[in-house]
Amino acid sequence: MTGPAAKQPLDDRPAALILEGVTRRFGATVAVDAVDLTVRSGELFSLLGASGCGKTTLLRMIAGFEIPNSGRVLIDGQDVTHAPPYERPVNMVFQSYALFPHMTVAQNVAYGLKQTGMARSERDDRVQEVLALVELDSFGRRRPDQLSGGQRQRVALARALAKRPKILLLDEPLGALDRKLRERTQFELVNLQERIGTTFILVTHDQEEAMTMSDRIAIMQGGHILQIGPPREVYEYPTSRTVADFIGAANLLEGTVASVEGRSAEIRLQATGGAAMAESDIPLKTGDAVTVMVRPEKIQAHRASTGAANELSGTVIDIAYLGDLSIYHVQIADGVRVQVAIANRRHADEAPFTWDDAVFLSWHPGDGVILIT
Ligand SMILES: Nc1ncnc2c1ncn2[C@@H]1O[C@H](COP(=O)(O)OP(=O)(O)OP(=O)(O)O)[C@@H](O)[C@H]1O
Ligand SMILES: [Mg+2]
Repeated sequence: MTGPAAKQPLDDRPAALILEGVTRRFGATVAVDAVDLTVRSGELFSLLGASGCGKTTLLRMIAGFEIPNSGRVLIDGQDVTHAPPYERPVNMVFQSYALFPHMTVAQNVAYGLKQTGMARSERDDRVQEVLALVELDSFGRRRPDQLSGGQRQRVALARALAKRPKILLLDEPLGALDRKLRERTQFELVNLQERIGTTFILVTHDQEEAMTMSDRIAIMQGGHILQIGPPREVYEYPTSRTVADFIGAANLLEGTVASVEGRSAEIRLQATGGAAMAESDIPLKTGDAVTVMVRPEKIQAHRASTGAANELSGTVIDIAYLGDLSIYHVQIADGVRVQVAIANRRHADEAPFTWDDAVFLSWHPGDGVILIT
């Protein structure tokens, strides 16, 4: 993806949205719990988290469909906490596209504009403009039931963009699409967002979708934001076990800090009693209980010991062939498995290991992330 990197640096851009200590309760449920968040102008920002973690509730408070019990919502510097939806420069694309079935595509897109009292000719121009934007210029006269799922999704998008919102809120917009179409639409959405420069806040429970599309991702759990950062940062440097586990596959090895030297620490692993070296920016002291997180693709597997600083030995107990990769499950101690991803580069390559093979696993100390347990 070329886009986000080519944009003006995020920190230099003005804030499009600021949430300050925003909380929403439903009876005893705290759906969103004291969330602080700043989204920059022109950013494609994702809220990622499991079902029920508060994503939709957070979006609805930005849109004005839900009023926080406490905290403030600022859009473009204006406090809109108590403003009704139609007074906010925001539009929302709902999970179920909610197109009007009896109206044509053009009428669906024009609907919101009509309500603002925009003159007919200006409205027609605007409808053509946004339909062209989503590459549906020639579909204006069709009804939603004469469109494919992906086309319907683009009509919903065009309708939401027609009023030129400053912030577009998208709640699982691609949820109903099959995998191939979904991947294509992800790129289309990113390209569109770059062209028009509107701030997008996207809700998804699909970590790959969040990773491919976003400038930054917020990982939510139980109404809280656990971590915010660019995709690479949350993947390579998760700050908690939950984030490590939620984004991609993670090997989590529990242990105790045996010694510390600067950023380097030696960890005594619980599973094997052996040592592992890892690096950390968090201050650690001897005796701390920690978890060493290593991604499956950062681990090399060998038939013999290589004498590496980080080495585990074990037995292959499971192999998942995924085409591009194979995932080897290696048992390193009773009940403790490590996953190793090996790329299947060549057509004719034989699988390097098979069931019950003894293997030695190693990784670079810089590739182990220390998490506080
Ligand atoms: N109107 C409501 N009344 C009562 N409880 C609600 C209401 N809306 C949401 N909740 C609760 O608040 C919590 C967060 O819900 P929310 O819809 O924000 O989750 P979500 O992250 O969007 O989940 P999903 O991925 O399933 O859409 C849930 O426990 C939900 O049951
Ligand atoms: Mg939801």
